Amino acid sequence: MKDYLDFLITGNLATDIQRYFLKYDNLGTYEHTIDVINELSYIKKHFGHIQSGSLIACYCHDLGRVVRSDEILEFCLQNNIMVSDEEKILPSILHQKISCFIAENVFKVNDTTILNAVKYHTTLRKNPSMTEIEVFLADKMSWKEEEYRELAQRIKETLKEGKEKAIYYYLCDLHDKKEKLKLYHSDSKEAFQYFNQNHIL
Ligand SMILES: [Fe+2]
Ligand SMILES: [Fe+2]
Repeated sequence: MKDYLDFLITGNLATDIQRYFLKYDNLGTYEHTIDVINELSYIKKHFGHIQSGSLIACYCHDLGRVVRSDEILEFCLQNNIMVSDEEKILPSILHQKISCFIAENVFKVNDTTILNAVKYHTTLRKNPSMTEIEVFLADKMSWKEEEYRELAQRIKETLKEGKEKAIYYYLCDLHDKKEKLKLYHSDSKEAFQYFNQNHIL
């Protein structure tokens, strides 16, 4: 397995992130990261402000994508990253935890709010922070793949009614599709129940 922790930061996050993805040959994820940052700018423009840690979290959210899919479980084992039974069904979901680990240990991010926004950017969880909500939305709104483009657009439209409504729109869509999913993660399920019970509509 490659040493994914063998990287020295300069302190300039934007260029360090670019250099990291180039070093581990993942230009595609770097380009996606820039798309996510652009969607975060859209959220900022629309609401007038964003949380102070959202930009750093967006830069770091997919760092874990550098780990090759056949090395994910080994990476987690080596670095004491907890893997639940359900996550063994779909190891790629662990990239959110790996991103958090790399952000903390390579990029020296120590703000818990930022680290949690990275750690839950794919599944979300119940009672998320506003930073978690902004990063989650910016990521989903950036989707360009044919099968997700329409959903991304709908989330963006719903955002005009509020961030929580946009989140709830996504979670309902996921809940409706649960039978077809390889994994309906328990954190996503709990997030759905949380927003459902909190009557945000
Ligand atoms: Fe991701
Ligand atoms: Fe992403």
